[in-house]
Amino acid sequence: MNIVVLAGGLSTERDVSLISGTNIAKALRRNGHNALLLDVFLGIQATEEELEHIFEKSEEVSADAGKIKEQSPDIRAVRQMRSQDDGGDGFFGPNVLSLCKRADLVFMGLHGEDGENGKIQACFDLLEIPYTGSGYMACALAMDKGLTKTLLMTAEIPTPMGITISDKQKYVDVKYTGIDLPCVVKPCCGGSSVGVSIAHTKEEFDAALAQAFKYEDEVVVEQYIKGREFSVAVIDGEALPVIEIAPKEGFYNYENKYQAGAAVETCPADLPDNIAHQMQSYAKEVATGLGLNTYARMDFLLDEQNEMYCLEANTLPGMTPTSLMPQEAKAVGVDFDQLCENIIQVSLK
Ligand code: DAL
Ligand code: MG
Repeated sequence: MNIVVLAGGLSTERDVSLISGTNIAKALRRNGHNALLLDVFLGIQATEEELEHIFEKSEEVSADAGKIKEQSPDIRAVRQMRSQDDGGDGFFGPNVLSLCKRADLVFMGLHGEDGENGKIQACFDLLEIPYTGSGYMACALAMDKGLTKTLLMTAEIPTPMGITISDKQKYVDVKYTGIDLPCVVKPCCGGSSVGVSIAHTKEEFDAALAQAFKYEDEVVVEQYIKGREFSVAVIDGEALPVIEIAPKEGFYNYENKYQAGAAVETCPADLPDNIAHQMQSYAKEVATGLGLNTYARMDFLLDEQNEMYCLEANTLPGMTPTSLMPQEAKAVGVDFDQLCENIIQVSLK
């Protein structure tokens, strides 16, 4: 097949996406496809040589994971400038679209904002361009952590208590959120923990709020759950084995996600069968409930009393060397190349 792998973009997860996209493009080529990696932001098409280069560069960036945090507010500014300069085409211009239209399939290697939030999927639907992953509505719902929380609560799937706030001034004091300290503060529609902080004191809460608002105009504040971290991917209605993530320090933040060796991942997780099954069952329910009918990865916490909480659904889970879904697939004998084929098959159904 002629496949365009879309990656990069202008979200805070741009670098993560370049690593995922490169990995995917290489796998598709090994599988015999004609795969073109396209950086949505730069509009470049990557050759085999460039793939190597992007990959090396991305590894450097991931080794200096703090860098993107400083850059992210600038990325938003660049994006605004570009959409003005382009006279409204924005970063997702006709050049990218025409290449996607000529392909048999677009493999979505994007993470964060545009790419994972359904906007590009809606555009492809209108243009009848086939793409991997779920449709625009499911992506839009799952990208919004506040909306996801509301839907989880409606479906009686346990999730930490939380609220979405959009008025920074009104909530400068933690008591107005109704959430006790310690709490977690996160940009509403982010990913890879960019802009996420845990606040233990009023001062930390103020700083956490200011940090999260740098990235977005909506922020989720939720109850902090002390416990173990897990994730479960669902492909075509079937749950993969539960994976446990144990960061060597702190929580599973950006550095611990992408610095090789910074977290210990165990798959299948060391859990009693009934708990693992319950987590898989919730993961399937979340995927179905949100309409994530191709593939997605749901994140969970288990507190010290073995109470389970679903945090969120990731519609285009990471495909980097340290990412979780590829490790879950490997645990059932599905290697990375086969996983990419499975994603294509379920998406074309
Ligand atoms: N948001 C990152 C890519 C993930 O969920 O894996
Ligand atoms: Mg996420």
